[in-house]
Amino acid sequence: MKNIVILISGRGSNMEALIAARDAGTLPVNIAAVISNRPEALGLETAQRAGIAAHFIDHKGFESREAFDAALAECIDQFAPDLVVLAGFMRILTPGFVRRYEGRLLNIHPSLLPSFPGLHTHQRALDEGVRIHGCTVHFVTAELDHGPVVIQAAVPVIDGDDEASLAARILVQEHRIYPQAVRWFAEDRLQLVDGKVRIAAALDAERAFISPELR
Ligand code: GAR
Repeated sequence: MKNIVILISGRGSNMEALIAARDAGTLPVNIAAVISNRPEALGLETAQRAGIAAHFIDHKGFESREAFDAALAECIDQFAPDLVVLAGFMRILTPGFVRRYEGRLLNIHPSLLPSFPGLHTHQRALDEGVRIHGCTVHFVTAELDHGPVVIQAAVPVIDGDDEASLAARILVQEHRIYPQAVRWFAEDRLQLVDGKVRIAAALDAERAFISPELR
């Protein structure tokens, strides 16, 4: 069974979705540890309650990104993960860190990348007037919120939406697509080959989920 380490910065609802899928028997992974860059991250308590090793490495204690990333990598590597899963981990990673975990570092982002990388994606989508928004799981590259796409889910923007209502509609889909992406990896079906995503025997429709409101 594959070992995974999950990195969080806050609430940890995507982490919870992964734990729930594991507990339901639909995600055959060992969640070896959860690591936060913020001591106060709510998700740390959730992980502890689930019996998972929970650590924090406060980024404020480091003088440079390189020094923080080196400490983070040292902590991660104790658990010898096959896959490192960024689940609301709100740090820009150094190229050296990204290289170290190349092909085994996934991120989830609350937009249909390459649209709206960075912060405040839902408000920016509303401000732009887009009618379709969503979320993306991708392999991490040195460019922020950018990299080969594993799976996306699309949701409609509805008249009267505000940031909170749109975020909530998308979060439901995040909790669906992240366990799916990690499941493919756990089943040895997901690979990054020459910068391209390969998923053995995955249907196109499985990699592009259209929320029921759009059908
Ligand atoms: C999620 O919406 C995730 O997509 C986003 O942070 C939130 C974390 O929520 N990640 C990013 O914006 C990464 N650029 P969670 O802690 O409840 O999973």
